[in-house]
Amino acid sequence: MIDQASVWEDLSRRLQAEPMIMGERNTPENLQNLYLQNRAIAQFDGQKGIIAFVALWPTRVAAIHEFGSIWVDSERRGHKLGSWLMDKVIALAQPADVIFLITKNPAVIHLVEKHGWMEAGVSDWDRIIPLRLSCGPCDFQQESKPCAKQAKRGECSLFIRR
Ligand SMILES: CC(C)(COP(=O)(O)OP(=O)(O)OC[C@H]1O[C@@H](n2cnc3c(N)ncnc32)[C@H](O)[C@@H]1OP(=O)(O)O)[C@@H](O)C(=O)NCCC(=O)NCCS
Repeated sequence: MIDQASVWEDLSRRLQAEPMIMGERNTPENLQNLYLQNRAIAQFDGQKGIIAFVALWPTRVAAIHEFGSIWVDSERRGHKLGSWLMDKVIALAQPADVIFLITKNPAVIHLVEKHGWMEAGVSDWDRIIPLRLSCGPCDFQQESKPCAKQAKRGECSLFIRR
């Protein structure tokens, strides 16, 4: 059985190993804090520790959240846990809050579209969510300027919860 202290270290390692999850912010401390601040959903398993996780990452604007770090243990995928995480984490925000997601994962795109999220065209990104909030330096674009180039190539897309 995995102990409480190492649960977050283990989750952090597993998230950082995922090529489609923005790695460096997923430290054990950040993940645990998001959970303790009621900004994340975690499914615990007595033997394996955390087997499913998702968070609403804060932005500099209190009512705008980034849906991120959605992850399900590879042995548990395909059983609607991802869908369950989506429903649970959205309920943590206020109904009028804005929730956005930047992704290039086809399964996540499928999930958010199924949940009625809207995709923003690249030219609308800044109008819908200020670029300084949605599109800072990331694992794919390290410079602090918009990464619309990658978005145009379809390498990431912006989705907004309707
Ligand atoms: C994305 C992830 C959380 C989904 O978890 P899950 O428990 O398998 O999700 P669900 O079972 O609820 O649903 C997956 C849906 O995506 C669909 N799907 C799976 N792979 C797909 C693909 N390549 N293209 C399109 N749809 C796909 C499934 O058919 C399913 O659709 P359905 O509910 O209509 O049947 C999981 O695959 C994961 O942890 N991936 C690695 C981490 C990652 O990349 N996170 C995303 C960061 S943006």
